[in-house]
Amino acid sequence: MRQFPIFFTVQDRPVLLVGGGEAAAAKLRLLLKADAWVTVITEDPLDEILDLYELGEIDWEARGFDAADLNGAILAYAATGDDAQDRAVSAAARKAGVPVNVVDRPELSNFITPAIVERDAITVAVSSGGAAPVLARTVKAAIERLLPPNLGRLALFAERFRGAVKAVVPAGRDRLRFWDKFFSGPIAAQVLSGDEKGATEAMLAAVNRRTPEEPGIVHIVGAGPGAADLVTLRAQRLLNQADVIVHDRLVSDEILDLARRDAERIDVGKTPGSHPVPQDRINAIIIEQARAGKRVVRLKGGDPFIFGRGGEELDELRAAGIAADVVPGITAAQASAAATGMPLTHRDHASAVTYVTGHLADGKGGDAPAVDWSALARSGATLAVYMGVGAAPRISQDLSDHGLADTPVTLVENATRPDQRTVTGRIRDLADLVRLNGITGPAMIVIGSVAALARADQGTDAARMESMSCMAAAV
Ligand SMILES: C[S@@+](CC[C@H](N)C(=O)[O-])C[C@H]1O[C@@H](n2cnc3c(N)ncnc32)[C@H](O)[C@@H]1O
Repeated sequence: MRQFPIFFTVQDRPVLLVGGGEAAAAKLRLLLKADAWVTVITEDPLDEILDLYELGEIDWEARGFDAADLNGAILAYAATGDDAQDRAVSAAARKAGVPVNVVDRPELSNFITPAIVERDAITVAVSSGGAAPVLARTVKAAIERLLPPNLGRLALFAERFRGAVKAVVPAGRDRLRFWDKFFSGPIAAQVLSGDEKGATEAMLAAVNRRTPEEPGIVHIVGAGPGAADLVTLRAQRLLNQADVIVHDRLVSDEILDLARRDAERIDVGKTPGSHPVPQDRINAIIIEQARAGKRVVRLKGGDPFIFGRGGEELDELRAAGIAADVVPGITAAQASAAATGMPLTHRDHASAVTYVTGHLADGKGGDAPAVDWSALARSGATLAVYMGVGAAPRISQDLSDHGLADTPVTLVENATRPDQRTVTGRIRDLADLVRLNGITGPAMIVIGSVAALARADQGTDAARMESMSCMAAAV
């Protein structure tokens, strides 16, 4: 260890800052966050510094540095950009025994300001001891990604209950265990997901019971379209903490590998037309698991609220009185668009986009409201059709009957996965595009003039010819 790490209390204590440029302002912002009382010495302050002075938040002297400025200071910073002045501040501070930092001059400093990750009360400081400041910043960025943004709220939440826990849970091992369980348990998860009201109720009950064990929580999490690096940071964190993962067929192994090694995995995957685990049973599983006090991640392909039945599961959980929240994922339409360079809206092509299921086009939708293809055809919006491969002949027929026979269409199969394929053509040929290209995997069908902008990477010669003619039509 090259330097000794400490956190220094500067609240309401005098700190000297010599300099008035951007580097000085950056240090000033940081010092004010910690409520230091800062005196700035400079003849040439930035407006930002003047504003703070006018607001009465700092002292400012419009002159050069004098060694007497160090009297009473607990820390000194020099950021003048002038070698002689910076050296003078450094030498005088050392002589007066005041710790000094000269910005970007480790040889003139006897302390550094580390790279900082801040979450309210939680502060993580990273230093390379001057060996590789850029590496320290890279480490800081990695920690930023790891720590949930509201971790500080969790610290403040725990602080609110410290007295109450102290009053009822005996000191030593019991109290340690209480907090240990709290920070890795469902109440903390509730705070982190933003439900402080629910967490407060649960914590009050836990304090009265003297144990934070509680019925579990269900996070309904979108896993995105397949690529593991398209999973959100929140989803990654929850996967890493889950006791049980209840997942669909469309969730890739790569994503499941992000989960805690010892987490139980329950596969409730469905294939089109066959439903190995009926929805009622899935609802029952997640409720049972949460009632057993587990942290459950209900992991779904894409986004849970886009043709994902996330709404139904959330209703059931709420009715059962189980804490639940929803983490969005990248939906297949957006993934397909990005993966093929095909914007779903475009100033020259479409000012609206409709997400629609093709599953109902073959009349097998049961009680679900029917899709009005004639209204969609008239809307001029880009149509992003989910679950449409099986019903491609019917969709092609319906839209052609309503005047879209020549409209470009792009199919993106297995978007963002290693086996992604893109084929393009015209609506009237949609059934052939599916058949001739052997599209069997999960695929999006995107309809509208934007579809001609997609980069077609595979497909039959006929599909490629179509694609070229679509591009020509678009130009
Ligand atoms: C039951 S829906 C689930 C949609 C999911 N909730 C979402 O937001 O993407 C399944 C349909 O999503 C589409 N889909 C899912 N993943 C896909 C992928 N990687 N590439 C293309 N389409 C996909 C297909 O149309 C598939 O039939």
